Amino acid sequence: MAAGSIAFFRDRYVPLEEATVSIATHALNYGTGCFEGLRAYYNDEEHRSYIFRMAEHYERLLDSCHILRIAVPYSVEDLCAITLEVMRRNQLEEDAYIRPLAFKAEPLIKVTLEGIEDAFGLFVMPFGEYLPLQGIRVVTSSWRRIDDNAIPARAKVTGSYVNTALAVSDAHAAGFDDCIFLNSDGHVSEGSAANLFMVRDGQLITPPITDNLLEGITRESLMALAVDHGLAVSERHIDRSELYVADEVFLAGTGVQVVPVVEIDNRLVAGGNEGPITKMLKSAYLLAARGNDPAHRTWVTPVA
Ligand SMILES: Cc1ncc(COP(=O)(O)O)c(C=O)c1O
Repeated sequence: MAAGSIAFFRDRYVPLEEATVSIATHALNYGTGCFEGLRAYYNDEEHRSYIFRMAEHYERLLDSCHILRIAVPYSVEDLCAITLEVMRRNQLEEDAYIRPLAFKAEPLIKVTLEGIEDAFGLFVMPFGEYLPLQGIRVVTSSWRRIDDNAIPARAKVTGSYVNTALAVSDAHAAGFDDCIFLNSDGHVSEGSAANLFMVRDGQLITPPITDNLLEGITRESLMALAVDHGLAVSERHIDRSELYVADEVFLAGTGVQVVPVVEIDNRLVAGGNEGPITKMLKSAYLLAARGNDPAHRTWVTPVA
């Protein structure tokens, strides 16, 4: 899919082809960038897009940049205004992905974080399903999730997605749609680019944020929606083999949205079907994200 033609780069709205960097850029050489991924859902009835939890994404971007010592010269409010302007200029009448990126921009051969010039850019792209919403087959990866003391998973750092790419490409080569990461202590962490939930005895369970996972905004939204629907929600360690006997398992994230896991390590989950709680939460999430849930209107920002 082609990206929208207008980007924001180094404080200006520019044609996408002008938003380029040198081969010597620090972030390109060492992975020293932080990014976000937001979704804009196009509401067909209202003929406008809604951006899901925009401020929360920018709060997380600034946190990631704080960890990586990247200076962003914009507040959360500024970043929201830039995003709305890029969306307006691109006039996309379909679902879209928004990619802000802050990075160490200097042409420099020096592996460090301090004293390096930073830059910020943002582009948008039409975006449909990242993984099939009806259900996926996954495998437990032999690659372990990066540890907080190696590269913090709670920071959305460009370089740490090498961990993801290694695991996903092995999963694809073995014939699976995606993979599940374990921590170095052997507990379940998350999917490749999504948080993980399981349902056991009517309870929604997800690993705690200290289990080397991205503190997902979809994760937090789904936990709130689950409580709205009277479900008990708990955050605790999950064993790999618990997933085999779980009533339901699903992945949740901006890219994947809510995707039922119907098979893990060649064992069917929920008889190979989408479970009822997954189905209910997926509908509740999509309703809210598209701006159609009055109870969660504060989660979405319309693009004028
Ligand atoms: C590694 C990882 N975990 C979880 C998520 C889900 O986070 P969010 O719901 O904030 O998009 C993502 C991004 O989508 C991710 O890249």
